[in-house]
Order: sequence, then structure tokens, then C-alpha cells
Amino acid sequence: MAELNSNLPPKELLEHIARSCANALSVAGCSILLLNSKKTHLLHVSSHGLGDWYLRKGFIEADKSLPEMLRGEVVEVTDAGQDLRLQFREMAEQAGIASILSVPLQQNGETFGALRVYSRNRRIFSRRDKEFAARMADLSALVLRQIQSVELTTKPSPENQELKPLELKKLVTFAHPSEEQFARLLDFYDIKWLYEPRSFPLQWQDNRIGEMFTPDFYLPELNLYVELTTLKQSLMREKNQKIRHLKELYPEVEFKLLTRKDYSNLLAKYGCGPLAGAKAEGVARVLFGDAQIEEKVRELGKRISDDYASHSLLLVGVLKGVFCFMADLMRHISIPVAVDFLGISYYADASSGVSITRDLDQSIKGKNVLMVEDIVDTGMTLNYILNYLRTRDPASLKVCALLDKRVRRLVQVPLDYVGFEIGDEFVVGYGLDYQGEYRNLPFIGVLKPTTSVPQTERETKKDSE
Ligand code: IMP
Repeated sequence: MAELNSNLPPKELLEHIARSCANALSVAGCSILLLNSKKTHLLHVSSHGLGDWYLRKGFIEADKSLPEMLRGEVVEVTDAGQDLRLQFREMAEQAGIASILSVPLQQNGETFGALRVYSRNRRIFSRRDKEFAARMADLSALVLRQIQSVELTTKPSPENQELKPLELKKLVTFAHPSEEQFARLLDFYDIKWLYEPRSFPLQWQDNRIGEMFTPDFYLPELNLYVELTTLKQSLMREKNQKIRHLKELYPEVEFKLLTRKDYSNLLAKYGCGPLAGAKAEGVARVLFGDAQIEEKVRELGKRISDDYASHSLLLVGVLKGVFCFMADLMRHISIPVAVDFLGISYYADASSGVSITRDLDQSIKGKNVLMVEDIVDTGMTLNYILNYLRTRDPASLKVCALLDKRVRRLVQVPLDYVGFEIGDEFVVGYGLDYQGEYRNLPFIGVLKPTTSVPQTERETKKDSE
């Protein structure tokens, strides 16, 4: 245990505890699990001796997986295949696990996780076994609290003084820098994520899993899995096959693949990634001319006027891209409307979260609000803004977007009025910019493709599997 005094990072300390615990008790495996913030699910954060597949078998529901644990009790399972208190009995049996001992991780009498040991032989754990496991759980709790205390000293607000769920992300080791960057982007838009929490078996051989697929991210609030790949298109065949297979076997699973091109385009929008700063060479073609735009805006204005007839309405736009659309739309709305604008910060590599750079001038409490957007792409911006506005109790909140780039959607946001649906192309004009330029074009045009993604980015081993 000398390592525990060293300056090892918490993740390694936890791995060391899990290994030492399994070895000392002569069991096949040991795992340290944490409860999520709502205390509904448990996640393995560090383990020894357990297969990848068992660790990522699915979401462990806290009230179904040895529920006594939540009450801070030590729980013993002698026959894992038969014990009804276990959520994944069949999988435990397949993984050759016969008995399990679970001891709680606690702080101030509150349970925030568990340490579990897994034995291949049926075993009645002795009093000494339990005491030892409890000491290891205390050590794990100590290490985990250290991570938390760093949190407490950096954010000393009153609500942080009480027990808070630990930041799982501090224990994540990303396989590729692009994944870490993507996690930062999600953090920026306040979208919760879990890294590789679940593996999907794709092929079985003699009752054993021959092949499986582990998407990089799961976004629990959106119930969406995201796979990010930095592979060149030419190397994508095998991965595409796996993804097809995944969709066939698990049609209920919401899944989104971000290819190397998608991801570079996404980052370029924020001035990051391989395409950052690439100079655009003008407009390749006109997508919607001024007459077409005018007709569409008139149509939207009429629908909105009909739908809100005899109601008051406040139009809210997000600066700056929306100013042309807003100016025209409001002039085609025949009922009285008020207008207000929000300004928000955009993602830049090091920033910590969206901030409101210009707030609304008026209260929206009890008002009918229509968010007016120039373009909805991944939906992350709109999702953030809608969540923000909802906290201010409007009577109703709807969205009107001139352009809907639906193919790139990550967060499903409700759009009540849409002008045009467009493909995966970067468009400019009629208020929309590229690096601050082109906003003044009277039409909406597709930007000429910028320099292609450099091929020098190293592919990871994980990606080439
Ligand atoms: P989202 O958060 O990915 O939906 O991005 C929305 C914001 O990205 C918009 O309000 C625009 O500022 C910007 N954006 C997305 N696609 C384009 C485009 O094709 N041209 C110009 N700006 C875009």
C-alpha cells in the first residue's frame, strides 16, 4: 500500500486498490463503482480482473442491483446466477462469476458508491473478508474524496460544501485527443456524457462474445450514443460494417456517427481543429435567392400571425446571425409583436461553459415567446438557450428557424416553424457568416469547400481495430 502515499493520479490509485483487494482475498476480480448524481445508476470507475464486456454490460440501476447497498449495507451474494437481487444474473453466470461481496463507499453516512469483489467459486465471505473489503472501500472513498476536495477548493460556493456526486470525468482516460475535445464541447453546452459506458455484443461463438462494439460516448439526457472517428474514409469499411450490424441488432438504440469530416467541420465552426482558420475562396453557388427567401419569410410570417392571432407575442433572436431574418420576419407578422435579443459566447477550446454575453431587456415570465433562429445545426446552441429560457417561466416557448441542417443534428430540439431544410453544407449570406464575412450577401449561398482535412493526424490503435 506504499503507493497510496505516492503522488500517483487517483485513477491509478483506484486501480491499485482494486488489484490489491482481489489478490488479498484470492478472488477473480474487484471493482469500484460510483453512483451518478441522481443516485439512479452505478458506474464502474476502476476495476481489476473483470472483462471489458462484463464492465460495459449495460446500465446498472442502483435500486435493482443489490438495493440494500443504497442503505449503506454490506451485501453478500452466494449464487450470482440465482439471486434475484442482482440485475444482470445471466451475464454474471456467463462471465463465470459465482459470488459477489458489495460494501458501500460512504461519506458522512451517505452512500455514494460501492466496492465489489467477484469470486469464480461459490464462497461464503468470512467476517475478516468483509472487514478487509470495508477497509479497502474506505481507502477508495478517501481517494475519491481527494478528487472532490480539489473541486471544493476551486469552487467554494455554499452548495459545494455538501456531499456532491464525484466528477466521473476526472477518472476517464480518453483513447484519443479528439474525444477529450468533444467531451469539452459537450461540457461547454452543458450536455451530460459518459465515456464508453456500454459495449454491444455483435457476434457470438459457442455462447461467448466474439465481437462487440463500444461507442465512445453516451449522452444520458438525450439517450444517444455517439461514435467519433478520426479514420480516413478509405479505412472506414470495417467500422461501417460494425455500425450496420449494431443498428440491425439493436434497432431501439439511438446512435450517431461523427466521421472525421463531420467532426472537422464541427470544430471549424468554433475556429478549432484541422480546418481552423482555413480561408474560404468565395461562394460556390446560390442556394436560395433573395426572391425565394422573401417568399418563404412571408409564408412563415403568415403562419405565425394566424397561430398567434389574438395573443401577444415576443420574438427572441440570438445575435448576430439572425438579424436579417428577424428584421424581415417581423415585418411579415401582422399581429403586434415585441422583439428582444440574446447574445451568447461560442465555444473556444479553453472556455468552460456557455455564457450569456447579452441578456434579454425584459422579463419573459408569462409571455408567449418565439425563438427566432437563423440556422440549427447540431442543435446544441438552441438546446442550451431553450433550457435557459424555460427557467424564466414563459407562458409558451416555440421555435422558428429559417434553416434546418437536420442531417447534422446531435440534440433533438423541437422546431415549430422551419423555412428550408438544407444538407450538410456550410452556408453564408443573409446574416450568416464565415469568420465574420459574407453576412451582407442578399442571398444564401454555399461556401466553396475549404482546404481538406490534413491526412497527417495520427490514427489511434483503437480506431483501426
Ligand atoms: P448548433 O449549435 O450546432 O446548432 O449551431 C448553431 C450556430 O452555428 C448557428 O446559430 C450559427 O451561428 C452557426 N452555424 C451553423 N451552421 C452554419 C452555417 O452553415 N453557416 C453559418 N453559420 C452556421
